[in-house]
Amino acid sequence: MISPPSISSLKVGVITGGGDCPGLNAVIRAVTRSLIQDEAQVIGFQDGFTGLIDNRSQVLDWPTVEAILPLGGTILGTSNRANPLAAPQMQQQLLQTIALHGLGALVAIGGDGTLSIASTLFKAGVPVVGVPKTIDNDIEGCERSFGFDSAVATVVQALEQLRTTGQSHGRTMILETMGRYSGWIALEAGIAGRADVILLPEIDYELDKIVAICRQRQQARQSTLICIAEGAKIKGGELTIAQHLKDRYDTIRLGGVAHVLREQLQDHLDQEVRSLILGHLQRGAAPTAFDRVLATQYGAKAAQLVKQQQWGQVVTLAQGQLSHIPLEQVEGRHRKVPLNHSLIATAQATGISLGI
Ligand code: F6P
Repeated sequence: MISPPSISSLKVGVITGGGDCPGLNAVIRAVTRSLIQDEAQVIGFQDGFTGLIDNRSQVLDWPTVEAILPLGGTILGTSNRANPLAAPQMQQQLLQTIALHGLGALVAIGGDGTLSIASTLFKAGVPVVGVPKTIDNDIEGCERSFGFDSAVATVVQALEQLRTTGQSHGRTMILETMGRYSGWIALEAGIAGRADVILLPEIDYELDKIVAICRQRQQARQSTLICIAEGAKIKGGELTIAQHLKDRYDTIRLGGVAHVLREQLQDHLDQEVRSLILGHLQRGAAPTAFDRVLATQYGAKAAQLVKQQQWGQVVTLAQGQLSHIPLEQVEGRHRKVPLNHSLIATAQATGISLGI
């Protein structure tokens, strides 16, 4: 029987794939420091799987990762373009790079697209460990992803700023959040940012219910603040799609429902309605203290899985505990806000309308 290689002779590749997110650098730092302590070598590949295909890398050592914990973005760069499995030649090049560097493990930090590719690579024999990443908080099996708290903080600040200008003009103000097909960002930020109405992809809204609230508040000389997730839609309506993209894992980009709602409302209200899409500002911030800690925990856990040779696994957080599940369990799935979630009940109990 061949004994497993000792960790001190192991070379570990690290990539960050998909959209960036606050906390990625904290994960890179934690993975690197945890593995280096056991004398493994860590190599970062640039721009997601593309760096593995084109063999573009940089050594990750103690000085390289020393100061990156509080930085937004990713020092490795990222890409959600290349799917190395789309063409057999690309997959071949990727496997050649792994062999060239003598990688004994690959840590793939990314969202559902990156983790799905990682899962397929694992099935093709690559020793992979996944770390879930997304501001959307929508990865299956993971109750809190790093980056989410930072995105929520940005949205809350925007809501507070919209409240003062909206109140001064007696306007209805609509803020659109990211989140794709899940409403986690809008729900948490809406509660924390004192929204009067929160609209989620999980609950189709009824226009007359929102109109009634705006009119009622106008009579009381109060402005109305609406926090709407980009994946929300009117009952019986369609998603608002901003762009169709080629050569991506996810070819649809949502966006613009805040403006759609503004037009729907404006026809029924005397007061002015204004709308704002917050967009990529939600991804750009430095991570909050909470996300720095969570991302560091995720990175340390991923390094532990590497040391234990638990391949094909992705780090998760379940009932407050770090754990891991097989990569294939997250493939192609989106974690939505359950209608019986305590935050939905909290919103309703505190008089926030969910548009129904
Ligand atoms: O998944 C993260 C996310 O920021 C979504 O909330 C948003 O819909 C999407 O990515 C935007 O993607 P891109 O950066 O390609 O415009």
